[in-house]
Amino acid sequence: MEKIILTGDRPTGKLHLGHYVGSLRRRVELQNSGEFDKIFVMIADAQALTDNADNPEKIRQNIIEVALDYLSVGIDPAKTTIFIQSAVPELTELTFYYMNLVTVSRVQRNPTVKTEIKMRNFEQSIPMGFFNYPVSQASDITAFKATTVPVGEDQAPMIELTREIVARFNNVYGKVLVEPEILLPGNAACLRLPGTDGKAKMSKSLGNCIYLSDTAKEVAKKVKGMYTDPLHLNICDPGHLEGNCPFIYLDAFSRPEHFAKYAPEYASLQELKDHYVRGGLGDGTVKKLLINILEEELQPIRERRQQYEQDIPAVYEILKKGTEVAREAAAATLDEVRKAMKINYFDDAALISSQVEKFKK
Ligand code: TRP
Repeated sequence: MEKIILTGDRPTGKLHLGHYVGSLRRRVELQNSGEFDKIFVMIADAQALTDNADNPEKIRQNIIEVALDYLSVGIDPAKTTIFIQSAVPELTELTFYYMNLVTVSRVQRNPTVKTEIKMRNFEQSIPMGFFNYPVSQASDITAFKATTVPVGEDQAPMIELTREIVARFNNVYGKVLVEPEILLPGNAACLRLPGTDGKAKMSKSLGNCIYLSDTAKEVAKKVKGMYTDPLHLNICDPGHLEGNCPFIYLDAFSRPEHFAKYAPEYASLQELKDHYVRGGLGDGTVKKLLINILEEELQPIRERRQQYEQDIPAVYEILKKGTEVAREAAAATLDEVRKAMKINYFDDAALISSQVEKFKK
C-alpha cells in the first residue's frame, strides 16, 4: 500500500514556534525522508471559516502568510503538494455523505470541540458548520487515502473519528477508504510548547507567540521577557524547572552540538539544568543560550521567507498548481465513493440495462 501523508493548518494567523516544533519541523523531515509516496499539506480555509464566518478578509490575508511560512521552513513544492481546501469541492461533497455516518452525540463528546466551544462562547448557539468540522476533517484525510497524519495531540480526537468513519463506510459500502494513523511529535516539550508567558499554549489571542516571521530583534526581546521561575530571585538561589519557559524551549530546540558551540562549560542540557536547580545560574544566561539556538534555526527560515516575499505571484502559482494535483487525487476517490454508495447513476451501464428489463412489459 502507498504511504501517503495529509496534514494542514487553519489560516487564521502567521505560524509560530508552537506550530514549528509541533508539526512543521517534522513535516520537512518526513518530506525529505523519502519514505512517503505522496505528501499533501492543506491550507484549511474552509475549516477556518467555520468559526470566522464574519471575517473572511482575515482568512484571505492569512492564506499567503501560511504559504510563506510553509515554504520558508523547507516544505518543497517539488516534493509536497500544498493546496487550498475550499478549492477542492470534492471534500465538501464527501463531508455531506460522512455526516450520515456520525451521530450528534459522538461529536459532542469530542474533547477538542468541547474546549473550542467554550473558548469561542458558542455554548448557547453552535454554528452547524463549526460543529461539523471534525467530520469535514475526516473528508480531508480520507479523500487522499492518507495513511499518516502528522499533527499535534489536540487533533487526536479528529483522527479517532476519522478511523470510525472509515470503518463504518467500508463496512456499509465496501472497502474503499483507508484508516489513517496519527503521528505525534516526538518529545513532550514539542507536544505542547507553552507561550512565552508560561501559559498552556501559544495563541495569538494571548499575545504569547514567537512567530517564524519575527525579526531577530523581536525574538530576542520575547525570549528576554519569558516567564521563568518566580522564586528564583537571586542568581545563587536554587531554581525550579517546572513550567520554566526557557528550559522547556531548550528541551524542544537544543541539540547536543549546541552546547559545545554556545555554552562549552556544559556538556549537555542536563548539566545546565542541574546547575540551575543547584543555584548559581542566572535566567539571563539561560535566555542568552536559547536566543543563540533559536537564531541558528530561525535565521535560514527568515531568509528563505524574504526571498519568497519578493515573488508573491509565484507563491500563488505554487498553490494553484498544488490545488490542481490535490483535486485530481480527491476526484479519483470520490468516483470510487459514489460507486460504492450506488449514486453513480450515469456511468453505470448495468444499472440502465437492468432498469430496461424491469420495465419491459
Ligand atoms: N484542524 C487542523 C488545525 O486546526 C487543520 C486541519 C484541517 C487538518 N483538516 C485537517 C489537520 C486534516 C490534519 C488533517 O490546525
